[in-house]
Amino acid sequence: MAVIDIIKSILSPGRSLDARPRVGTAVSDRSVRPLTRSHLRELVQVNSRCFGPGDGYTKYTFEYLLDDPRSLSYRIDDDLGSMAAFAFVMITDSGAGHLTTIGVLPEYRRRGLAAGLIRHVERALASRGTVTLMLEVRVSNIEAQALYRREGFVVVQRINRYYNNGEDCFLMMKTLFELEK
Ligand SMILES: CC(C)(COP(=O)(O)OP(=O)(O)OC[C@H]1O[C@@H](n2cnc3c(N)ncnc32)[C@H](O)[C@@H]1OP(=O)(O)O)[C@@H](O)C(=O)NCCC(=O)NCCS
Repeated sequence: MAVIDIIKSILSPGRSLDARPRVGTAVSDRSVRPLTRSHLRELVQVNSRCFGPGDGYTKYTFEYLLDDPRSLSYRIDDDLGSMAAFAFVMITDSGAGHLTTIGVLPEYRRRGLAAGLIRHVERALASRGTVTLMLEVRVSNIEAQALYRREGFVVVQRINRYYNNGEDCFLMMKTLFELEK
């Protein structure tokens, strides 16, 4: 089964575990570090605040991805060491990178965290010999599309009814040939 189908088959509506805002905690340390199984609870909570109801991954999906050796995952913390942003990428059987999810807490948006995560992912993939990175994004998610376009992704296909609610997605791709190591 293609990785795109694996992800779709395990994606189901998430639930909100923690809706408490943490506005006021500044992000100054933008170092990216790997996610591990020990971060699962925090990840689920942050994810529930990044995505709308039914739109983010479930705890089960994250468990699957964190255990899968084909999956790379990263986080950026705020000054207090709490997760502010996360990203997952899967290396497909054909050797392409697939950005499966990325989220930044609302209070930390427009500070370059998502762009920093994507660039970190790209360097990690390039160092493994991966030359393409792809992703799917809702046609309604204008903000994320702006991010991806700015990071050099282009729309290669529109896939009808990709999401559970019937919404189409754009398949976007980027080549990693010219990345600086
Ligand atoms: C999409 C998302 C990950 C962007 O995270 P972010 O950390 O705010 O993005 P960045 O600060 O790195 O943005 C880099 C650039 O992307 C573009 N961009 C990002 N968010 C944007 C927005 N809301 N409106 C317009 N352009 C935006 C801008 O060009 C921005 O550069 P600028 O701030 O200098 O103008 C974040 O809004 C989010 O978590 N959204 C909810 C979850 C989601 O939709 N994930 C993607 C699923 S496909």
